[in-house]
Amino acid sequence: MFSERVISGMRPTGSLHLGHYHGVLKNWLRLQSEYPCFFFVADWHALTTHYDRPELIEESVWEMVIDWLAAGVDPTQATLFIQSKVPEHAELFLLLSMGTPLGWLERVPTYKDQIEKLKEKDLQTYGFLGYPLLQAADILIYRAQHVPVGEDQVPHVEMTREVARRFNHLYGKEIGFEEKALEAAKKLGGKRTKLYLEARVAFQEQGDEEALAQAQAIVHEAQSLSMGDRERLFGYLEGARKLILVEPQALLTESSRMPGLDGQKMSKSYGNTIGLRESAESITKKVKTMPTDPARIRRTDPGHPKNCPVWELHAVYSDQETKQWVQAGCISAGIGCLDCKEPLIKSILKEQQPMLERAQKYIDDPSLLRALIADGCDKARKTAQETMRDVREAMGLDYS
Ligand code: TRP
Ligand code: SF4
Repeated sequence: MFSERVISGMRPTGSLHLGHYHGVLKNWLRLQSEYPCFFFVADWHALTTHYDRPELIEESVWEMVIDWLAAGVDPTQATLFIQSKVPEHAELFLLLSMGTPLGWLERVPTYKDQIEKLKEKDLQTYGFLGYPLLQAADILIYRAQHVPVGEDQVPHVEMTREVARRFNHLYGKEIGFEEKALEAAKKLGGKRTKLYLEARVAFQEQGDEEALAQAQAIVHEAQSLSMGDRERLFGYLEGARKLILVEPQALLTESSRMPGLDGQKMSKSYGNTIGLRESAESITKKVKTMPTDPARIRRTDPGHPKNCPVWELHAVYSDQETKQWVQAGCISAGIGCLDCKEPLIKSILKEQQPMLERAQKYIDDPSLLRALIADGCDKARKTAQETMRDVREAMGLDYS
């Protein structure tokens, strides 16, 4: 019924690094050519944890969009926008909040985790508890089927599905459906009406499949029913609802674990990152000072790549030939660690070159960036407004 849309958001809390590129953005690049994609800056989500530092968010918003564009996200293919510029997200969030049990939010694993982990922040707030529901609104408002996310976000998408299901259940009824269905049942005539209604109860209350089949047969056999009545009677048996919100699926970003400078996963909180647009000088220095196999104290000491974080980066960046050269040279002490790092530095800088070129255009002319986002916001807003019209109507809020 709805075209297969993709939606994903990213919180603007600092500049992006190669972990984001290899883990998330490369996936976006693939998706943008396959589906209509909506990628947005989740600035409200950033505020749930950084409400005391809005200036950090403001700064990061534009830098992050430049990082996306640098990576190759194409604004002529994907719709790029900022969450807070589409206030309909907030309206849907509010309406969904009415019927969302508190327990659903308290049970999301990230909730207690993050409160524990970010002890220095007071996250005992209404906004932070609502984080996954705001995310549900982000997704549902575009009636998106696919949500590319990392593993940690899967429970949020799961909850989004429950929220959609509950919404459709509560509000997805045709107005006067029940009365119309009963009218239609009467038209079956006498004994068959009674059989139909009894079978319906038996199915809905006891899950009696045989009764369901029997009732369906009665509807099939009825000659004089209109198409509308026939549909209604089939629907009434199984408790049919109108689909207003679409249940999305998580599209798992295969956990391509990008190693950082110390061999742990690359992450800002470990301080082991290489920035997407970091200067060549700084990247070179960072790689040159990376720790290596501790067994190689002197140049003449042999080592083993499996004990070395540099090797993990070779696994991402180097071709077969280079990798064999590293293996052989390390084990035999035939090469030094600085020699070993040389082709790695080259590859990282080579990967970065086209990114810097793409970014430059927007750095030179920020109005280009503003215009492209304004455009994306308009487009996103149109889609969001369509959904909100249906949502308001379903909830009886379209007073006119
Ligand atoms: N919570 C997501 C994250 O931290 C960001 C996000 C907000 C998001 N809204 C979304 C992701 C909607 C996908 C869809 O990564
Ligand atoms: Fe690591 Fe390369 Fe040095 Fe071996 S030669 S320890 S793989 S940096």
